Amino acid sequence: MLRVAVLASGRGSNLHALVDAIGRGELDAGIVGVFSDKAGAGALVHAREAGLAATHVDPKTFASRADFDRALFERVDASEADLIVCAGFMRILSPEVVAPRVARMINIHPSLLPKYPGLHTHQRALDAGDHEHGASVHVVIPALDAGPVIAQTRLAIAPEDTAESLAARLLPQEHRLLVQVVRWCSARRLRFDAEQVRFDEQPLTEPLRVD
Ligand code: GRF
Repeated sequence: MLRVAVLASGRGSNLHALVDAIGRGELDAGIVGVFSDKAGAGALVHAREAGLAATHVDPKTFASRADFDRALFERVDASEADLIVCAGFMRILSPEVVAPRVARMINIHPSLLPKYPGLHTHQRALDAGDHEHGASVHVVIPALDAGPVIAQTRLAIAPEDTAESLAARLLPQEHRLLVQVVRWCSARRLRFDAEQVRFDEQPLTEPLRVD
């Protein structure tokens, strides 16, 4: 069984999707810990309700970002996770904690990377007049939202779309995307590092599609 740690700062709907898929027997994995920098994160509430180990690490109690990151990953390492999933984890991680874990840490980001790293992705896609939007699961490297893209889901932008409507329509697709990528990890079909993703041992020339 693939041991999965989830890092989340917000409501935790992606965590929910993973927990549900495991519960339905559609994902052979176990969530061994949920970690958040926000005491009130919905993700922590959901984790506790689901009987999962839920850990809040408060950045305010550390002198520096590096100290916080070290403390956070000491706890993550203690969970003995095979895969670390960042799902709406809203802090930039220091290279010191990212670099040794590149081969087993992924992030879900609501844009078709390399378009729109960072925040406000839905509005930026609208402002650019894009006809298509989506979400990506990528390898976490020290540079923000910049690691090799593993898989993407796409949706057409409608003329009447707003940032809110786009986010709402994209969310269920994000959930399917993340569950599928974790499933591939569980089946040992994916291998990656800071430069490359391999699927069934073949280097990817473009992201996998999950629609
Ligand atoms: C998702 O849109 C994810 O792509 C982004 O933050 C959001 C997290 O949502 N990075 P949730 O907390 O999993 O509901």
